[in-house]
Amino acid sequence: MNHREVRRYWNGNADAWTKLARAGYDVYRDYLNTPAFFKMLPDIDGLFGLDIGCGEGHNTRLLAERGAQVTAIDISEAFIQHAKRLEEQEPFGINYQVASAVELPFADSIFDFATGFMSFMDIPETDCVLAEVCRVLKPGGFLQFSITHPCYDTPHRRNLRDENGLTYAIEVGDYFRNLQGEVVEWLFGATPPEVREGLPKFKVPRFTRTLSQWLNLLIETGFLLERVEEPRPSDETVRECPDIQDAQVVAYFLHIRARKPRAGTLFRQRPG
Ligand SMILES: C[S@@+](CC[C@H](N)C(=O)[O-])C[C@H]1O[C@@H](n2cnc3c(N)ncnc32)[C@H](O)[C@@H]1O
Repeated sequence: MNHREVRRYWNGNADAWTKLARAGYDVYRDYLNTPAFFKMLPDIDGLFGLDIGCGEGHNTRLLAERGAQVTAIDISEAFIQHAKRLEEQEPFGINYQVASAVELPFADSIFDFATGFMSFMDIPETDCVLAEVCRVLKPGGFLQFSITHPCYDTPHRRNLRDENGLTYAIEVGDYFRNLQGEVVEWLFGATPPEVREGLPKFKVPRFTRTLSQWLNLLIETGFLLERVEEPRPSDETVRECPDIQDAQVVAYFLHIRARKPRAGTLFRQRPG
């Protein structure tokens, strides 16, 4: 499966995803991932940024709120329509465009930073995406992205729960098998039954990479690794949102910041 075939699935997901996320059921995003991402993000006030795989634009708007001038792309026309509609109602000055991360329609070296909120693991051509991001970043610019954690979002995964229904372990397996588009069906777990009724499940093609594959691709592309985080919800956050208790047991998400070297910066190439 290539990125163009992936588009069909995300177009099919866009309406239900937007409805549920905007109603507050994407609780891992709202209580864990997004707060952790923005805690790690450098000051972007006044910078030109590119948000890649922006979906309905929730996190893009938060980037704009921090003073960045943001262009945002998504391969799904349906998601971009939802994002643009909200931009018309509540303008943040965001320039939304339908485009693929694999073929960015931008000139070289024009962005100060790029972000990818939970989108890079959904694109099969990971090497092209990183090369494209590196191309459009100015020298010295940074890329920050979040993905499901390669070590715990494995082809085989099962929550092990105690007698109170609390997760105490995650069983993982098949780590080294690179899934190449196996479609999984699900809805946000926090969605109540009455809201689920009549809604189609999301159909998401999965592309798994190992941790070393991700890190080596970044290094081979020429990025300098700057910061890595594995967000974990605090006890207080879990009291507020018990649905994300399982994210205290292992790292569900991986956040990485990497920088395109300034001209003249020496960086080590992979031997061989
Ligand atoms: C899990 S959603 C995340 C959406 C959004 N960033 C968020 O945090 O809510 C993944 C997004 O990646 C987009 N996507 C998948 N393949 C893409 C590609 N090749 N180029 C750009 N976007 C892509 C999907 O359409 C979808 O909107």
